[in-house]
Amino acid sequence: MQPTTVAPPPTGDELPPWLRPRVPNGFRPLDAPARMTCVMQKGGSGKSTTAGCIACELALMGYRVRLWDVDAQGGGVTHWFQPAQAGQGEPLNLLHLFKGEATADEVTYATRVPNLYIVPSFTSLKQVELGPPPGVEYVIDQAIKETTEPIDVEIMDCGPSLGQLTIAALVAAPNVVVPFKASGFDLNSLRDLNRTLALTKKRLTPDQRILAVVLSEVLKSNLTRDVFDAMCNDFPDALVMGVRQSVKAREATLESIRLPLHEYAPDATVRQDFQYLTRMLVAPKAG
Ligand SMILES: Nc1ncnc2c1ncn2[C@@H]1O[C@H](COP(=O)(O)OP(=O)(O)O)[C@@H](O)[C@H]1O
Ligand SMILES: [Mg+2]
Repeated sequence: MQPTTVAPPPTGDELPPWLRPRVPNGFRPLDAPARMTCVMQKGGSGKSTTAGCIACELALMGYRVRLWDVDAQGGGVTHWFQPAQAGQGEPLNLLHLFKGEATADEVTYATRVPNLYIVPSFTSLKQVELGPPPGVEYVIDQAIKETTEPIDVEIMDCGPSLGQLTIAALVAAPNVVVPFKASGFDLNSLRDLNRTLALTKKRLTPDQRILAVVLSEVLKSNLTRDVFDAMCNDFPDALVMGVRQSVKAREATLESIRLPLHEYAPDATVRQDFQYLTRMLVAPKAG
């Protein structure tokens, strides 16, 4: 039998000193199969960028990854990673799953990235918040249990609210990644989120764990350092790290470009940061 080899975890030495993450004692990456949710109740905090980049990096590591667009605002990861062979108009999507009109397999589409699949959604997904079906919080979890797709990692990209859709994502994928921007406004929201997550955990998701807090778009500054320290204090068991600001992250999602970050700017610092984050969150594939 061939001995299995596992790449060593990254040390962080490849990052500049001011960007070194806080890795709590005893922190362990998830083993596949794994499920995680990007959540923060503010728009523009970096959820879709983080979910999309982690999904791509995992796919590049050889995992089969399914990215769920659980955001009824539209223009998020469905726009970025277009579902293949979906045809014109709105193909079967997450709304149909919630309405009991489609299975997870039927709403899972390939993307241009090998190993990366997407469950798309459109603004029509708002119907779920307006008139939630009975048992709405368990719909995604149940659908994953019934899927026949051999998926290694399920990633939920949530919208900017803590409504029924986000709860359904958290029930299905209780490992939480919180992207947010370093500002006073966002710090307050983050503390609210922390309280809400504690309530959800008690009521619905006992396995919930805040895996990582990601400071999106950081620049080297005293503010970054102060917010970073506050996060380490507020989230003692989470990986805390910054992802550098780069215009490449914005350009990659432009309609005229629309490429995964690793294709559009493979050497950009922001890509390196997401690569590091991903390798910290999910253990590399053995073999
Ligand atoms: N590291 C980064 N550098 C520069 N721009 C970024 C970075 N991360 C995210 N952005 C941009 O910030 C905006 C909000 O990010 P997005 O991921 O859409 O947030 P959310 O999903 O929380 O609303 C987008 O225009 C995105 O391209
Ligand atoms: Mg988004």
